[in-house]
Amino acid sequence: MKLEGKVAIVTGGTRGIGKSIVERFLEEGAIVILGGSRVETAKKAEKECLEKYPNAQVVGVEMELTSTEKVEMLISKIEKEYGKIDILVNNAGITTTQSILELTDSEFDQVMQLDVYGIMRMTRAVSRVMVKQKSGGSIINTASMVGIYGSPRQPAYSCAKAAVLGFTKACAKELGHQNIRVNAVAPGVVGTDMVKENVSDEMLESLKKMIPLEKMADPKELAGIYVYLASSDASYTTGAVISVDGGLVM
Ligand SMILES: NC(=O)c1ccc[n+]([C@@H]2O[C@H](COP(=O)([O-])OP(=O)(O)OC[C@H]3O[C@@H](n4cnc5c(N)ncnc54)[C@H](OP(=O)(O)O)[C@@H]3O)[C@@H](O)[C@H]2O)c1
Repeated sequence: MKLEGKVAIVTGGTRGIGKSIVERFLEEGAIVILGGSRVETAKKAEKECLEKYPNAQVVGVEMELTSTEKVEMLISKIEKEYGKIDILVNNAGITTTQSILELTDSEFDQVMQLDVYGIMRMTRAVSRVMVKQKSGGSIINTASMVGIYGSPRQPAYSCAKAAVLGFTKACAKELGHQNIRVNAVAPGVVGTDMVKENVSDEMLESLKKMIPLEKMADPKELAGIYVYLASSDASYTTGAVISVDGGLVM
């Protein structure tokens, strides 16, 4: 097992890409703290994981990523309870499909608060723990292909995901000497609620025609790259942005 005994936090771990990361981490022997926007969704995901993996060490908690105070309290609680944090996956994210012509400050702010500030708050709090514990750690940020090449009607989301790439590289440079690796994964089109709620069938069909592998991804097809980046197999990989998009952006 590649992550035996490692303590991992996965934000947005209740469904979609995050849920499949949580499941793969559990299969690899990690102790997982999965986050949701509400205690109900987090506990539901915890229960589903325990039904699937009865011997797993997994707990679902509400993670209020838009509050610095709540994030600091959460990380300090996790540090006290588990004694260390080896892996942080900053995966929670939202989008808006509002055109730049209509985008309001508050819509823009909502996306930035979770997709950018949320990652910054979690990384800041967790990397302080990782520096103290001296054994280093692995931080993995879920970016997006739209952070690389942009997407019409997604100016807020494209902006947020581009920011994640710069943030990842800056943190990789700053924290490398502490043996903290920071990498990003840039998914393409993945069959999750986010896509169901924001991409029309017509748009999906035209996207599929542009994807060399000719389909959108199942969330399970993303999880392996997170296991790799979290594990010692990636001990010399930091500051990388790994596209997992069926060849859409190359
Ligand atoms: N799907 C794609 O095609 C695609 C492509 C590129 C990048 N991505 C990125 O991949 C990541 C996961 O996306 P997904 O498609 O799996 O999304 P999803 O199915 O919509 O799941 C979103 C996750 O984020 C959590 N979340 C939402 N708002 C939150 C908040 N305010 N505070 C804390 N947690 C919150 C949700 O928790 P609840 O269940 O409690 O709401 C859920 O666990 C995101 O960063 C997304 O931008 C997705």
